[in-house]
Amino acid sequence: MIDRMKPITEQSQANPSESSMHTAGARIILMGPPGAGKGSVSDRLVDKFGMVHLSSGDILRAERSSGSELGETLKKYMDAGELVPDEIVIKIIIKSISSLDSSKGLLLDGFPRTVIQAKQLDDALAKMGLPIHGVLLLDAPEEVLLKRITGRRICPKCGRVYHIETMPPARDNICDSCGTELIHRDDDTEQVVRERINLYHKETEPVIEYYRKSGVKIIEVNADATIDEVVERAIEGIRQVILSEKKGKTS
Ligand code: AP5
Repeated sequence: MIDRMKPITEQSQANPSESSMHTAGARIILMGPPGAGKGSVSDRLVDKFGMVHLSSGDILRAERSSGSELGETLKKYMDAGELVPDEIVIKIIIKSISSLDSSKGLLLDGFPRTVIQAKQLDDALAKMGLPIHGVLLLDAPEEVLLKRITGRRICPKCGRVYHIETMPPARDNICDSCGTELIHRDDDTEQVVRERINLYHKETEPVIEYYRKSGVKIIEVNADATIDEVVERAIEGIRQVILSEKKGKTS
């Protein structure tokens, strides 16, 4: 959706045959705590393979800044690092999924985040004939996550993501792509990030177990590495998902 890392992704364009070989319409859920790199990895995969990226955080932030009444409600939860209630998120995200052309593959980033969301997603995708093929689980130690999130800066205009130490802009606090002043997300303070990480353990980790029990392939990706390495591991993970899907169909 939002093109957050364009200059890097431009360097990693792949040819179409590579794209179809690796992803072939794979529908993947990217899971992991805040700062694991879900958004950054998604951007690279989208540019490389043309998959559709749907980030619940981006969609909710867009609604939040629209000035709507719903946006005001979302702000309350998001600024505190709390999960937006299931009934609100499910309605918004499932509506978005059904309007997308996911023939080249689908990357769901940040959704589902509770078991209730996962069940509703499964029902909706079953009706569309588009079941999930696999879950990529990104993870890194908590201190790494905290450093990444508290140092993150975002361009409010084009959505490009920076980090004050590992990915700084050329000019201090100014977006390289569009010249807009960068912002620090309201929920990226240490206190709020700790709350988001706690909620991840409490509400989102059970979703992994839910998919494991449903027989969906779970691939664990060590995200404590450079972004290039993490992306390579994610691509290998998707390749494994596709292979096991093909095996399942032929056995
Ligand atoms: P959301 O925006 O989804 O936040 P999150 O899941 O907490 O994830 P982040 O975007 O913070 O982290 P990321 O893993 O994408 O990391 P990134 O790639 O940006 O959700 C925000 C809020 O919305 C929630 O708290 C909740 O209120 C609400 N919400 C969303 N979905 C919901 C749902 N389904 N149900 C209910 N509520 C929902 O990277 C972070 C930083 O690290 C960047 O600066 C990046 O440059 C850097 N970085 C990334 N990878 C590397 C690397 N390998 N090496 C060095 N630096 C790296």
